[in-house]
Amino acid sequence: MSWSTTPQLRWLRPLLALFAVFLLLQILMPRSTYTQIQHNFNGRYLAQPERQNAVKREFLHAWTGYQDHAWMADGLLPLSGGRKQQFCGWSATLVDALDTLIIMDLNDEFQDALNATLTIDFLESIEGCEVNLFESTIRYLGGLMAAYELSNDARVLPKLIELGDMLHTAFHTSNGLPCTHCKLLEKDLDIKPTEDAILADVGSIYLEFARLSQITGDDKYIETVDHVSQVFAQVQNDSSIPGLWPEIISPAAIGGDRTDFARKSTRFALGALSDSAYEYLVKTHLLMGKTRDVYESMWKRASREIKRFLLFRAYIPNANEKDVIFPGIASRTFGDSEAMLETRTEHLACFAGGMFAMASRIFGDPEDFYIGEAITNGCVWAYQNSPTGIMPETFTLLPCTNTTQCEWSDSCWQDQSNRPEHCMNGNCEQFKFPPGFLQVSDASYKLRPEAIESVFIMWRMTGDEYWREVGWTMFESIIEHTRSAFGHAALLSTMEIYDRDAYEKGLMVRKVLARQMDDMESFWFAETLKYFYLLFSDPDLISLDDWVLNTEAHPFRLTESVRGF
Ligand SMILES: *[C@@H]1O[C@H](CO)[C@@H](O)[C@H](O)[C@H]1NC(C)=O
Ligand SMILES: *[C@@H]1O[C@H](CO)[C@@H](O)[C@H](O)[C@H]1NC(C)=O
Ligand SMILES: *[C@@H]1O[C@H](CO)[C@@H](O)[C@H](O)[C@H]1NC(C)=O
Repeated sequence: MSWSTTPQLRWLRPLLALFAVFLLLQILMPRSTYTQIQHNFNGRYLAQPERQNAVKREFLHAWTGYQDHAWMADGLLPLSGGRKQQFCGWSATLVDALDTLIIMDLNDEFQDALNATLTIDFLESIEGCEVNLFESTIRYLGGLMAAYELSNDARVLPKLIELGDMLHTAFHTSNGLPCTHCKLLEKDLDIKPTEDAILADVGSIYLEFARLSQITGDDKYIETVDHVSQVFAQVQNDSSIPGLWPEIISPAAIGGDRTDFARKSTRFALGALSDSAYEYLVKTHLLMGKTRDVYESMWKRASREIKRFLLFRAYIPNANEKDVIFPGIASRTFGDSEAMLETRTEHLACFAGGMFAMASRIFGDPEDFYIGEAITNGCVWAYQNSPTGIMPETFTLLPCTNTTQCEWSDSCWQDQSNRPEHCMNGNCEQFKFPPGFLQVSDASYKLRPEAIESVFIMWRMTGDEYWREVGWTMFESIIEHTRSAFGHAALLSTMEIYDRDAYEKGLMVRKVLARQMDDMESFWFAETLKYFYLLFSDPDLISLDDWVLNTEAHPFRLTESVRGF
C-alpha cells in the first residue's frame, strides 16, 4: 500500500513536496555561506582589559625570571632559578617569546630581546649538537619569522635566512626527505634521511618553509615543501588504515621500496608523535591553497578516517548536556579488517578541536565544526573535573558502548571503575580518580597550550562569551598551581590533591597546591600565555582571517592572492 492512495495520509503530500524542495536546495546551494574564519564581530571593541592585564602580569613575572637568571639560555628552571640547554643553545626561550612581547605591547622588553637575538650565531652551537629539525623549525624558525612579520625590522631578515638555510640542509639527502636529528653543522657530513622518524617531525615543516619562500622570494624552500607533501600524498593509502599515516614513518624508504614508508608502525593517533602532521594540512592550505590542492585532498581523505577510527564518545558525568568527543589511539594489523581503539586521550590532542572547527569553515563542511566543538568540550570537561582544575597529560576514559544511550549512572560507574585494573595500585579503597577518569597514566601538567588554543579558536569563530568564561577559569587554576619563585612550573600531578572525603560530601575542595617540577618549556611564553592573552584581547588582534598560527602559535601573514580561503 503506497502512501498516495491512503486518504488518511494525504496531508503528508505537501509536506513531503516541501521537504523535497528543501533537500534540493541543500544540494544546489553552496554548503557554506562563510567567507571568513572569525565570527562577524561587526567591529565592536571586545577586549577585556583586566583579564588581559592579569595574563600580562604573569608573563612579566616569568619573563623577569628569565631575564635575571637564564638570559639567552634555552630555558629557565622556575624553582631553582637555574638555566637549561635543550635545543643546541640558541636561546630557545628568547626566540620563542619575541612575538608574544610584541603582541603584549612590551616594547622595551622586545627591543632588548631582539638585540640579543641578533647576536645569536646559528652556525655555532653547543658542542656536537644534533639539530632537532621539528623543534628548531617550529620554535626558532617560526619564532624568528613571526618576529620579523610583526616588527618589520629589516635586521631580522639576514638572521632568518641564516637559520632557514642551516635547517634546510637537513633535506640535502639522496631522496630529499630530511634527517630529523643530525649534526647539521659538521663539515663534510653525509646527511641521510632518517630510517625511523616520528610522523610529526617530518610532516609539519610545510608552513614555516613555505612562508620563508614567500618572504624571501627564494623558491628553494617551497620546492622542498612540495616534494615532502607529494610523498605524503603518494603514501597515504599504504598504511594499515589507508588515509592515515602511522606514528612512525620511514623517510629513508623513499627511493627504495616506497611502501615501507608507512608500514613502520600500525598505531595511529592525533596526540604525541602525530598531531601537527594533520594540523598542517589545514593550515598550509590556508597559507597557499590557491596554488596547491594537495593539502585539501590529503585533509579530506585523512579527516574521514580520523572521524571513523580515532574519535569516540566517552562515558562521563557532568557534561552539562554538551556533546563531548575525545581522540583516542587506533591500531590495526595489516590484513585485519577490525581496528582496535584505545580510549586513552592526551592533553596534546586537544588542538584537534580548533583544527576541526577551522577546517569546517575552510573546506565548507559544517559537520566538522560540531566535531571541533565537541572535542573542545571534552578538554574543558577534563579541566573542570580534575581536582586541580587542570587537565592531566594522559588518561583513559570509558567509551560509550551505546551511541544513542550514554547517560551517566553512578552505580554503573562504580561497577566499572572498581575493577582492580582501574584502581590505583590495584587498591580501590585508598585512591580513586574523579568520576569519568577511569585511569590516569600521566597526571602531570607541562604548561601545555592545546586546550586553551582550541578554546581561543572557538571564541574567535563563534563570538560566544561562554568560551572566555571557561578560559578564564582555566587560567586561574593554572596560575594558582604553577606560579613559582622565578616563573611558572610544570606540575607533577594534577590529580594528587584529590580529597575523597570531600568528594563524597559533594565538595571539590582544593586542599593543597599540586607539587611542582623544576621545568618551564619555552611554549609557556610562545603559546599558552599568548592564547590566553588573545582570548581576552579585541578579536582584531591577530585575526584568524589575516594570520595563520604555526603549531608553536607563531603568526604568519596570509597573502590574499595565494591563500586558500
Ligand atoms: C639595539 O641595538 C641598536 C643597534 O645597535 C641600538 O641602536 C639600540 O639602542 C639597541 N636597543 C636596545 C634597547 O638596547
Ligand atoms: C587513496 O584511496 C582513495 C579512496 O579509495 C582514493 O580516492 C585515492 O585516489 C587514493 N590515493 C592514492 C594516492 O592512491
Ligand atoms: C541503547 O540503549 C537503549 C536504552 O537503554 C536500548 O533501548 C538500546 O537497545 C541500546 N542499543 C544498543 C545498540 O545497545
